[in-house]
Amino acid sequence: MSTSETNSNIDRYAVIGNPIEHSKSPDIHLLFADQTGERLSYEKILTDKDNFSQVVTNFFTNGGKGMNVTVPFKNDACEFVDELTEYAKHAGAVNTIYKNESGNFIGANTDGIGLLRDLKKILRLQLLNKKILVIGAGGATQGIVEPLLNENPSELIIANRTVSKAEAITEQFKSFGKISSCSLTEIPKHSFDLVVHATSAGLQGNNVELPVEIIGLNTCCYDLSYSDQDTPFMQWAKNHNAGKVVDGFGMLLEQAAEAFYLWRGKRPDTGMAYHYFRPDVAQKPHL
Ligand code: ATR
Repeated sequence: MSTSETNSNIDRYAVIGNPIEHSKSPDIHLLFADQTGERLSYEKILTDKDNFSQVVTNFFTNGGKGMNVTVPFKNDACEFVDELTEYAKHAGAVNTIYKNESGNFIGANTDGIGLLRDLKKILRLQLLNKKILVIGAGGATQGIVEPLLNENPSELIIANRTVSKAEAITEQFKSFGKISSCSLTEIPKHSFDLVVHATSAGLQGNNVELPVEIIGLNTCCYDLSYSDQDTPFMQWAKNHNAGKVVDGFGMLLEQAAEAFYLWRGKRPDTGMAYHYFRPDVAQKPHL
């Protein structure tokens, strides 16, 4: 295993956020480095909104090669960089920063690709002509809508407590596919193939009340957040016998792997990484 040593011969990477202590990104990237034979260090950086730009600039000035950005700075990172990838531009959010050969800061968003890879590769879920419901209309939702619509689902509904925010996202992405919005109380009472929970309610210990009719025998309920225990949404979905119930740890690994690829040009083995971090779950993946 590579270490988190920092010296002048080693390429430096970091994740920046607030809070940041809980982040699993250093462990994940050091495992990827070990898998691919790359030598690098990876730190956690805590900052605040006022200092974000300066801290990122200093990191790269002092030999930093790449950065992951997490809550609450994904929009700040979008403003900070010189150029955006298409996904980052449409999402208005950046989770990966690096410099190109001209020295310009590039901002990418690998969250949506991460979710899709996890759904397809590990869950073997194809989304063509499927019904998708996304709960929540914040930054997390903005990062996943375009890649989901690119799979041509028969419908994608964004349901949110504040319906105007769901409507704004619908308006923004309507040219990418069949998307509509509603309030939490207007969610259609039929089963969906995929229900993605993308609110931050769980972080404050709150649960979002949802109609049980959205769950059918084959419904995959996916919580974008991750935790060693089931989230309130996962508990709810299991109580109503959803076909598959998973948290966002697979997506976390996949978005990290895509960032690693952008930085190092090598693709880590995320299946092996999943077994490494979740040895108990890996025997019965996600069920
Ligand atoms: P993130 O970047 O994690 O998406 P965010 O942009 O602050 O965070 O968005 C949080 C999302 O969780 C929003 O959709 C928010 O609903 P509102 O737009 O109505 O604020 C949703 N959310 C947070 N707490 C919630 C709760 N208790 N019940 C329902 N939705 C909640």
